[in-house]
Amino acid sequence: MNSINVFAPASVANVACGFDVMGFALQGIGDELVIRKTENLGLNITAIHNADSLSKNSDENVVTVSTQALLDSLEIQPEFGFEFELTKRVKPGSGLGSSASSSVAAVFGVNELLSKPFSKKELVAFAMEGERLASGIPHADNVAPSLLGGFILIRSYNPLDIIELDYPDDLVATVIHPQIEIKTADAKRMLRKQIELKDAITQWGNIGGLVSGLAIADYELIGRSLHDVIAEPIRGMLIPSFKEAKEAALSTGALGCSISGSGPSIFALSRGMDIAKAVATKFEALFKSIGLESYVHISPINAKGCEVLK
Ligand code: HSE
Repeated sequence: MNSINVFAPASVANVACGFDVMGFALQGIGDELVIRKTENLGLNITAIHNADSLSKNSDENVVTVSTQALLDSLEIQPEFGFEFELTKRVKPGSGLGSSASSSVAAVFGVNELLSKPFSKKELVAFAMEGERLASGIPHADNVAPSLLGGFILIRSYNPLDIIELDYPDDLVATVIHPQIEIKTADAKRMLRKQIELKDAITQWGNIGGLVSGLAIADYELIGRSLHDVIAEPIRGMLIPSFKEAKEAALSTGALGCSISGSGPSIFALSRGMDIAKAVATKFEALFKSIGLESYVHISPINAKGCEVLK
């Protein structure tokens, strides 16, 4: 195989209480990457569609940086290079794991072209190097769900311990992306470095509750647990009408609603498509009423993760 076309889905990280440790993958939105083997050694980005601001320099793009991390861990280097043509469909700074989608597509596709020396789970560490470049912190809560699909818990970063959670298959996410940009690095810097014990207790109670609720399909418990006292109270201030959006989602029947990753996108999780659609209508009306352009996306949890397109 000399070339491959892959798709890596967008993702919702944190999922309210799971700051940097939980995420799930979305359907129907993600980056596409064509990768070709080349006679010349080295990594070369030939084109980036839909994102003029991204660098093609191999030291400055998550595609090549994460690929290099993969190559560095091979005992024998390939006798060819790779070129990449990236089509961005997840907007940078959206809070939907844009950099993660690109990194994941790169390491997944290159791994396929090398006849799979690594498992999907092993690829997470390489894709995290893209996150280190993009935000300064190699977090895995976008890259792991984008690679593996489903609902993911990062139980530990050192050593990396990625848990694929059970979840009910009728959960549907409604995601709204107001057209403002929030850089993850900035949104990370604004958080307090110390938290109070009472907040930690609330947070880990909710994480346990969410994992348990997902496993036994206890929707009430899922809803009670989708609660964040660490990042949301601070980051919510950056998103116009966040509080109103959350109230609208909950009063429409969503189980929970919070910031997607570092924002500005907001996600709601609902049981079934009907409620998810009704939440989408409320979100759209709200952002229209404040004159802020926004895009809404409705998606069940993507169980597949990254995949080969042709
Ligand atoms: N867990 C990361 C953060 C996700 O909230 O900063 C960034 O998308």
